[in-house]
Amino acid sequence: MLVPLLGREEIERIVKRIAKEIERDFADEEIIFVCLLKGSFVFASDLIRNVDNPCTVDFLRVSSYGDRMSSSGEIKIIKDLEVDINGKNVIIVEDIVDSGLTLKYVKELLLERGPKRLKICTLLDKRARRKVDLECDYIGYSFDDGFVVGYGIDYAEKYRNLPDIYILKNDRLEES
Ligand code: IMP
Ligand code: MG
Repeated sequence: MLVPLLGREEIERIVKRIAKEIERDFADEEIIFVCLLKGSFVFASDLIRNVDNPCTVDFLRVSSYGDRMSSSGEIKIIKDLEVDINGKNVIIVEDIVDSGLTLKYVKELLLERGPKRLKICTLLDKRARRKVDLECDYIGYSFDDGFVVGYGIDYAEKYRNLPDIYILKNDRLEES
């Protein structure tokens, strides 16, 4: 069962608000948006079209949950960046932070490459479930728990095409 969480108008308001925050923080400086595949591609595509700064986009894919609903904590790079981020302003764009393990790994990985500034932007934040210390710089919407889908976010690769965001409720699914 899909229970509505955020409709497209609300998502649009959130995206525009974050874009303004980014423009305020980076003035006219160039930004490299690092989109974490696959979940954040829809959010990233809306976000970059609302930011006026000169920017480029690159993609990073790390191992995902597969068909499970919570993180194993073991993370591997599946597709690395193509650009050199040394000395550049970088914003990591993520769909959702849960335990924080994925972003903590990605943040440390990218910091080793010597960016000028590194910021983290997430559309959704499941704050109550954090297992590691990780602060995001730009947060769209925080909530406590529940498995979400839609607007690029999947369960077992499905539901990415939904324009709105829902909580997926199904008694037969593994509890997260
Ligand atoms: P973390 O490492 O536990 O913070 O997990 C983050 C990653 O798991 C994100 O990149 C998401 O793609 C995925 N994820 C976490 N929560 C959900 C959810 O509710 N629905 C779909 N994917 C999720
Ligand atoms: Mg993801």
